[in-house]
Amino acid sequence: MAEKKIIITIDGWSSCGKSTLAKHLAKKLKYKYIDSGAMYRAITLYFLRNHVDWTNAVSVSEALEDIVIEFILNPKTGESETWLNGENVEYLIRDLVIAEKVSDIAAIAAVRAFAVRQQQQLGLDSGIIMDGRDIGTVVFPRAELKIFMTADIAVRVERRFKELFEKNPNVSIEEVKTNLEMRDYIDSHRAVSPLRKADDAIELDNSGLKPEEQLSLVLKWAKARMKQM
Ligand code: DC
Repeated sequence: MAEKKIIITIDGWSSCGKSTLAKHLAKKLKYKYIDSGAMYRAITLYFLRNHVDWTNAVSVSEALEDIVIEFILNPKTGESETWLNGENVEYLIRDLVIAEKVSDIAAIAAVRAFAVRQQQQLGLDSGIIMDGRDIGTVVFPRAELKIFMTADIAVRVERRFKELFEKNPNVSIEEVKTNLEMRDYIDSHRAVSPLRKADDAIELDNSGLKPEEQLSLVLKWAKARMKQM
């Protein structure tokens, strides 16, 4: 019997390694990977560059009309990258300046409606892995496999610090820790689609797991779901 293509959602706290797992899974299963956080980061970049007053609903909805976000495959790396209005912004959106504002912007209902609509459109064909905060609860509530990732805060800070330090040696551990804690708080306390584990999600604490260990664990779960279809 042929394996059915499924939708896999990966939600969880900031810097748990959601995108690392999602990318590895997508390569193994030959599925499409969508980084939903990149959309909120690209919107944040647009708002900051264009001095959009995001406390004003009219300014927000006018700005959203001018935003086109695409995910385009980079043939050299084989990975998809985020484009904003025709510009590759993959590198820019990972900056701490964006991370400092993104949770506030992602809490705005109109911004979420804009992003969720596009995320659902991208998931019309199965064979997709999407990571974020509300993917299993709001974007694809009927996904076949839902994972909720956690990891110790110290482990998460260390991982994100290493990533950011490579780009900017002036970044400090304290800055990174404050940012992660702030984002976790805002993401899980906002009124619209707060971060929470879906009732039918499997919890994965990867504090002590190597990337290849978590991949083989999740591949087993995915294969089991594909066979149940
Ligand atoms: O996954 P990330 O760290 O790149 O996400 C950046 C921010 O975007 C995160 O702090 C919260 C927000 N986000 C969200 O609200 N919903 C999602 N589905 C994905 C991200």
